[in-house]
Amino acid sequence: MEKIVIDPWGATLIEDYQKLIEKYGMEPFDNKLLKKLPNPNRLLRRFVVFGHQDLEKIIDAIKNKEEFAILTGIMPSAEKLHLGNKMVVEMVKYFQEQGGEAYVLVADLEALATRGISLEEGEKRAMSFHIPAYIALGLDPKKTFFYFQSKNKVVRDFAYEFSTKLTLNEFRAIYGELDAGKIMSVLTQIGDILYPQAKKPKPVVVPVGPDQSVHIRACRDVVKRQKKYNFILPSATYHKFTPSLDGNIKMSKSKPGSYISIPEDPELAGKKMLKAVDGGRKTAEEQRKLGGEPEKCIVFEIFKQHLIEDDKELDEVYKKCKNGEILCGECKLKAYELMKKFMEEFNKKFEKAKEEVDKLNFISHF
Ligand code: TRP
Ligand code: SF4
Repeated sequence: MEKIVIDPWGATLIEDYQKLIEKYGMEPFDNKLLKKLPNPNRLLRRFVVFGHQDLEKIIDAIKNKEEFAILTGIMPSAEKLHLGNKMVVEMVKYFQEQGGEAYVLVADLEALATRGISLEEGEKRAMSFHIPAYIALGLDPKKTFFYFQSKNKVVRDFAYEFSTKLTLNEFRAIYGELDAGKIMSVLTQIGDILYPQAKKPKPVVVPVGPDQSVHIRACRDVVKRQKKYNFILPSATYHKFTPSLDGNIKMSKSKPGSYISIPEDPELAGKKMLKAVDGGRKTAEEQRKLGGEPEKCIVFEIFKQHLIEDDKELDEVYKKCKNGEILCGECKLKAYELMKKFMEEFNKKFEKAKEEVDKLNFISHF
């Protein structure tokens, strides 16, 4: 593999991530860890995964061919997933391919308690959009267990059982402004994270965005404070957000032009890339002279996170941008083409996956 010249820590967007590491007590994901992971995927190789917790445990399990699990969940707060959610799924897929047992949950109780979304609506969204999208993004349907929080009594019982292990002040530190619904959601999420260990202790990795790290920490605190189970402290990986096309750190539904949902109309998704914030200079002349600034460029970040698989190709774009060989117009045309192609292929797989949804492995404990 050719050495990549992109410095993941060198960008303005990224300073904020280093701050996150310090603020939330994450461990940085670095080259040493990367080297220990077999067949690292695009997100690991490019340090889009920037932080972790206790990942060594998972690395050991992979190396020694020991049992481990992966668990993650998404709230059905929107009807469809968006481009950023794709990375969570890709991380589950990666660990699944290294031998882990994968659990993906629909956080329907959390959506009910924090967003007022009915369980019926949550189920409808999950069955018609979220779960088929997970399959279309490459999760192995035969090897993945799905569940709804509302249909998993083991998870809810854990939530009750561990409710005395956290203080109100700790809840406040997690959620700031507090109501009982948020408390219940945190406890339910702790139940989720421990669920793969309900029958026996095993390492569990939770791939999530950095906003979820507080939950991982709360869960680890609970594990340390209880005496009844031999739980292994859960591990996590944290990946950067996919930025909004207008330059905000996180993609947000409030601005439809800056948000790419999956599925989406391919032509429309492609066109959105043409309008994304770039790292270009004021004039073409200046850009030819000084080069562009890929570190500040949303188009480049989306190439890196999602659209360009080949490291050499990405490196090429970076170099040509830096030395002024390509201008943003031409570069965005490439982004348009790649996004359109991604969406065309995704949509095809999505339609197929929709037909298979009811044959999947759903867990329910009543
Ligand atoms: N809180 C997560 C979200 O907002 C969803 C979630 C619920 C979750 N339980 C989980 C994520 C367990 C990871 C692990 O989308
Ligand atoms: Fe971004 Fe491409 Fe413009 Fe460079 S040339 S700033 S990578 S859009």
